[in-house]
Amino acid sequence: MEFICYEQKGFVGVITINRPKALNALNSQVLEELDQTIDAVDLESTRCLILTGAGDKSFVAGADIAEMSNLTKAEGEAFGKKGNDVFRKLETFPIPVIAAVNGFALGGGCELSMSCDIRICSENAMFGQPEAGLGITPGFGGTQRLARTIGVGKAKEMIYGARNIKADEAYRLGLVNAVYPQEELMAAAEKMAAGISKNAPIAVRNCKKAINDGLQVDMDQAIVIEEKLFGDCFETADQKEGMGAFLEKRKEKNFIN
Ligand code: CAA
Repeated sequence: MEFICYEQKGFVGVITINRPKALNALNSQVLEELDQTIDAVDLESTRCLILTGAGDKSFVAGADIAEMSNLTKAEGEAFGKKGNDVFRKLETFPIPVIAAVNGFALGGGCELSMSCDIRICSENAMFGQPEAGLGITPGFGGTQRLARTIGVGKAKEMIYGARNIKADEAYRLGLVNAVYPQEELMAAAEKMAAGISKNAPIAVRNCKKAINDGLQVDMDQAIVIEEKLFGDCFETADQKEGMGAFLEKRKEKNFIN
């Protein structure tokens, strides 16, 4: 891989987008490599992913404007589909994904962070959808996920106005869960990932699926989705272990799958 690094730290996989010359902008090759990296994650040994950008300036500064500048309508649509397919794969990936946003998260970068389960960021982070100023709409899910994440009115204000926001405003809007000094960001992401990874893997996966799938349907159907995923946890070794530990007043738990 030229632009993606993958590192396994215990149960946690760290994906780093590494194209510093273009502030980690997403060209077709970066998208393809990200797609392949996600496919290659070993779900037997990995319980949580962290996604970040190389360096201390940019998470991802958007889709690659140079590559997009001469696209035809059909090519533009295909490029949007490529990004959307990869981001949807990440969003529906069985295990949680934490975006550690270490700087610019603009356009496709903001959209990439929103396809992750949880976002935390550095104090120098900046979020936004500048596309209207480039003569296009957001194309990797921004019109949909931003409205769902911070509300329709705020999303429309940001998107129509191509207005970027700093970390403190992103926090106030609920776009990020927490803000850290740059040098503490990865440690905070790893601590959060470790906190997730110590819990029962099947239960965590089922929680993600229940929340994501439930948000797509009405409450009556959503509750049925939860009932099924709740039921699926029973008879697993981890359910026996988790409840056994409580009943035996045992602190140490050994979740296996
Ligand atoms: N695409 C291609 N190259 C990019 C890029 C992008 N999105 N963002 C930055 N770069 C490149 C610059 O062209 C520059 O390259 P050169 O050194 O070869 O000139 C290099 O990265 C460094 O960038 P700057 O010199 O501009 O750095 P800066 O600190 O002055 O500014 C910035 C940083 C504010 C992020 C600025 O680079 C910028 O505005 N970038 C574009 C942000 C943007 O509009 N993103 C949305 C893209 S559209 C999109 O994403 C559509 C979609 O939804 C799919």
